[in-house]
Amino acid sequence: MATAKKKKRGPAKARTPLVAVLMGSSSDLEVMDRAAKCLESLDIAHEVVVSSAHRSPDRTARYAKAAKRRGIKVLVVGAGRAAHLAGVVAANTTLPVLGVPLESGALAGKDALFSTVQMPAGVPVGTLAIGAAGAENAALLAASILALGNVRLAAKLERRRREMAAKVPGTVRRYG
Ligand code: RP5
Repeated sequence: MATAKKKKRGPAKARTPLVAVLMGSSSDLEVMDRAAKCLESLDIAHEVVVSSAHRSPDRTARYAKAAKRRGIKVLVVGAGRAAHLAGVVAANTTLPVLGVPLESGALAGKDALFSTVQMPAGVPVGTLAIGAAGAENAALLAASILALGNVRLAAKLERRRREMAAKVPGTVRRYG
């Protein structure tokens, strides 16, 4: 009996990252991983990078400038305190930049919220909520942007919303 020869497969070819999840410090990783996990759940190729606006300013600017050429479509950028990473990234690219203010230091993220949301006119940063909710929503918003040109991804997002709606219990109690 002839046995079907199994085709040897090499390691899966890495896809071009479509989303960059960027943050100012390794201490941001735990929260910003929420964004990465969300992108992974939607099978969106992405990369996670630490680069600081004030500690490694040249590298941050180079990264932002090269992003479009490298095929990245959206940048999700998280930083705490007044580090202003999202603004610096937005200053160096015309790709959509989604900022996530992170809870860190004495002002618990309000400083980061203000520095991220209050960009002067001309260089936009779409700002999400402080912390984990913001990180997850930034990933979902990045997915919505990509879904404008990707029907399969759009269908996944629709399905996710339907699943979410199905989990809302509706009437939980009645009296009389
Ligand atoms: C910001 O300062 C970072 O984004 C981080 O949220 C905060 C504290 O950074 P570490 O001192 O923990 O490196 O630049």
